[in-house]
Amino acid sequence: DWTMAEYRQTKIADIRQQVGKGKVICGLSGGVDSAVAAVLIHEAIGDQLTCVFVDHGLMRKGEAEQVVSLFRNSYNIPLVHVNAETLFLSGLKGVSDPEAKRKFIGKTFIDVFEEEAKKIGGADFLAQGTLYPDVIESVSFTGGPSVTIKSHHNVGGLPERMNMKLVEPLRELFKDEVRELGRELGLPDAFVGRHPFPGPGLAIRIPGDITKDKCDILRKADAIYLEEIRNAGLYDAIWQAFAVLLPVKTVGVMGDHRTYEHVCALRAVTSTDGMTADIFPFDPHFLARVATRIVNEVQGINRVVYDFTSKPPGTIEWE
Ligand code: XMP
Repeated sequence: DWTMAEYRQTKIADIRQQVGKGKVICGLSGGVDSAVAAVLIHEAIGDQLTCVFVDHGLMRKGEAEQVVSLFRNSYNIPLVHVNAETLFLSGLKGVSDPEAKRKFIGKTFIDVFEEEAKKIGGADFLAQGTLYPDVIESVSFTGGPSVTIKSHHNVGGLPERMNMKLVEPLRELFKDEVRELGRELGLPDAFVGRHPFPGPGLAIRIPGDITKDKCDILRKADAIYLEEIRNAGLYDAIWQAFAVLLPVKTVGVMGDHRTYEHVCALRAVTSTDGMTADIFPFDPHFLARVATRIVNEVQGINRVVYDFTSKPPGTIEWE
């Protein structure tokens, strides 16, 4: 039995012991896990830590700005912000296979990260926000034979390539514990309580090929959906909620015009670790309101559907 305050102190001592006078580099994803890891490590070793945020242009609305301002302004943690949207989107042009997308993004992420690491003179350690479920899920999916359902995006492969050792202070923790640790470290509630967001970002929420236009359309729909969820006081009851932009166009009518636009699917699930999930049972009136707003406010979408699939047999993300 331990408290988060004790865990924090123990890990700080561990990190100091492991790192010594070495330099640590941490890749921020924009999510809670890497942010909590970075803040904890910064508390342990101060400016021996540099954070690198590779912005692939596949983030949600306003997300990149929030991360950069949190680290630079609130915590004074050295942060390199790389805007690599063009690089990622041009490389993803015409790529529609889910694993091909994941592999391209993972590889490009590592390339950019490595280049930035070299610019700051390299590092001895790579910090990651790996959680306990990541450790299990990458070994085996459901306790059965090891099968790759999806290649999860992280900076795997990089430590060997750059001859770095790993610092993973969250490896024993589940998501709810990471949030508790984040609060213990003084991270704002709104940040700590954020829904998980996958490394490959919006790329795996746009089945088929990806364009900047589609990303912009999806960002708008997603922001409306999340705004309504927050206004209804449901955000914290949901593990993850997001919009998906389908590569299917359907016919609709607006005023006296025929429309022919994309379908948007809404997903919301409850879960404790992401390994299994149940659909969130919204009131149909709530969903109708979100659908109306999205179709009225987002040019490029004229139909909205709700995903009723639990995990398993579905996965949480669509790709
Ligand atoms: P799935 O879709 O496999 O997702 O049911 C389970 C949880 O993992 C997140 N996810 C990812 N997280 N890199 C990440 O850091 C990834 O490549 C990735 N793919 C899925 C997903 O959002 C959900 O919370």
